[in-house]
Amino acid sequence: MIDLSKIEQFARKNYIPVMLDDTKQLLFDTVARCQPTRILEIGTAIGYSGIVMLTAAPNATLNTIEMLEESAQMARENFAEAGLTDRVNLFVGDARQIVTYLTGSYDFIFMDGPKGQYEVFLPYLTKLLTVGGTLVCDNVLYKGLVENVPTNKRHKHITVARNMHAFLDDIMHSDSYVTTLHRIGDGVTISTKIK
Ligand SMILES: C[S@@+](CC[C@H](N)C(=O)[O-])C[C@H]1O[C@@H](n2cnc3c(N)ncnc32)[C@H](O)[C@@H]1O
Repeated sequence: MIDLSKIEQFARKNYIPVMLDDTKQLLFDTVARCQPTRILEIGTAIGYSGIVMLTAAPNATLNTIEMLEESAQMARENFAEAGLTDRVNLFVGDARQIVTYLTGSYDFIFMDGPKGQYEVFLPYLTKLLTVGGTLVCDNVLYKGLVENVPTNKRHKHITVARNMHAFLDDIMHSDSYVTTLHRIGDGVTISTKIK
């Protein structure tokens, strides 16, 4: 894999969230195994995971969505430095709106956007994903709070924890997917769309 340490150091220094090391390896291995040709990502940040996926699948293109222009600009620079600009379409805006008008289909989707809203995205992502395609979702155990949802109503993460709990329950029991939960990093699901 290409050397991502410069982006990692920058992200750490500037408190920019990028995926944890073991999650990165799992994502790389999964993309390398699936060899998708069209990838959709929700939550570009500064392009770290996008570079990981495009490196693992040399024939893939990436459509990726980021809400913050400042992060998107850094992502553009990082994609350019990695020689990947021609393979990336970066949409800047709220993914909740953008997914409603995306057309075409994807054979791999990486969900790493707003943590409290995976449930809202799921029907749109399911529509965009081909049968046999793979949906990877990060942070599904959300700081350990999803399996131990706080009872204190004033806990600052209670809404995200509840919403993520509902999402995890849905995806694990969905008729459309076969899903494996990986207890690494902040929790990752890998789902194959079966119908
Ligand atoms: C955890 S970070 C993504 C990290 C990135 N995937 C990586 O590992 O390199 C989540 C990103 O989602 C973006 N985000 C949050 N809500 C969003 C929304 N509604 N639409 C688009 N992007 C959003 C945040 O600005 C942030 O950059």
